[in-house]
Amino acid sequence: MKIAVVGTGYVGLVTGTCFAETGNEVICVDIDAAKVEKMRQGIVPIYEPDLDVLFERNRRQGRLRFTTELAEAVAHADIIFLALPTPPGDDGAADLRYILGVAADLSRLITRYTVVVDKSTVPVGTAELVHAALAEHLDESLFSVVSNPEFLREGVAVDDFMKPDRVVIGVEDPKAEAVMQRLYEPFVRSGNPIIAMDLRSAEMTKYAANSYLATRISFMNEIANLCEKVGADVDAVRKGMGSDTRIGKRFLFPGVGYGGSCFPKDVQALAHTAGQFGYNFRILEAVMGVNTDQRFRVADKIEAYYGSDLAGKTVALWGLAFKPNTDDIREAPALYTIDRLLAAGAHVRTFDPEAMENVRAIYGDAISYHEDQYEALEGADCLAIVTEWSVFRTPTFERMKEHLKSPVVFDGRNLYDLRRMVEAGFYYDSIGRQT
Ligand code: UGA
Repeated sequence: MKIAVVGTGYVGLVTGTCFAETGNEVICVDIDAAKVEKMRQGIVPIYEPDLDVLFERNRRQGRLRFTTELAEAVAHADIIFLALPTPPGDDGAADLRYILGVAADLSRLITRYTVVVDKSTVPVGTAELVHAALAEHLDESLFSVVSNPEFLREGVAVDDFMKPDRVVIGVEDPKAEAVMQRLYEPFVRSGNPIIAMDLRSAEMTKYAANSYLATRISFMNEIANLCEKVGADVDAVRKGMGSDTRIGKRFLFPGVGYGGSCFPKDVQALAHTAGQFGYNFRILEAVMGVNTDQRFRVADKIEAYYGSDLAGKTVALWGLAFKPNTDDIREAPALYTIDRLLAAGAHVRTFDPEAMENVRAIYGDAISYHEDQYEALEGADCLAIVTEWSVFRTPTFERMKEHLKSPVVFDGRNLYDLRRMVEAGFYYDSIGRQT
């Protein structure tokens, strides 16, 4: 099939590359000429495991091309995916200017039947706005609008795309539904469902899924905070709860709050949508409030230990990305931690396997960056762990003690066994467990 993907951010690039991998001819469009030129030369502009191999193979074989010209993509494609940013405005509402701008352009460019697919996370009712923008200069027989929310997790996005738990398609036109079924059929051979529904329900499904997962995380963070007070161990509680098949084991890990480009934005946007419809979504307000506090949990623990004036103290920080296997620092708990530590007068020495350059662009020389996780500990009063990169899971504890000024660890991701840390001679404070 002939596909165009408009927007080569994270979602667009993974979508375009994975569709090319199943034999489709894909052209990706972006207004950023420098980025397009780099992609033409084979440079993948984001870090995502496994993407580079698929990208290179399909680019070389000519199934994955790049352009700055929307008209060229429209001439090529029978299906056009919109994978454009929807940043939150000041009031928390998703800003649709990019999506509706491209829809207006498409209205003048499309000349034969084309399926236009919303891939971005967009508020309920957006497909109807896209439809109206397309209908401005275009006969309704020449296009269908489809909502096809994505459920990719950064770090495992290629795998999520190639083997989705389900594919959700909002579609009200049988002709477009047949096109989408054919397109996704290779991805669900294992038997996972393609779930077709009306447009508004598909748009709602994405927000409901992300908001539910965020709710689970805030709930577990509160359970963890309470475990600390009552003398329970959240690790045991998590296992005891998660073994109930009605609850399930995944997404029950407490920590330093959820971050990234999706959960914070989507929870806020759903709460805003509810407000617009006169509904007070009380749980979401609580989910956001808990998360705002939890992002400071590690910094709070450090201040509780040393006092709120950290002048003269040095804190080593392991992990900057909002989660492992990405260089993405959007809404990363590490940034909130750094802000608080700097405000309290501490020196901060950091290490992250992928995200240091992105953090350097924000903090410059205000903190230091180290190529090695042990080097970051040199002369530090304590270590704070904020992201659970695998490389932090089994460190050499003796080496840590040699580099740290004192053996004190604040662990925001519960990486280590409590008894082992005590035996190794550490003061060890984690989330929802006893010190
Ligand atoms: C999330 C969803 O998981 C995807 O399904 C969705 O497609 C995507 O948003 C999106 O809307 O584009 P992502 O933001 O990449 O994906 O990351 P997650 O793996 O979901 O993690 C989100 C945050 O929750 C991270 O900060 C992570 O550390 C935190 N988290 C996750 C926890 O604190 N505890 C957990 O048990 C799980």
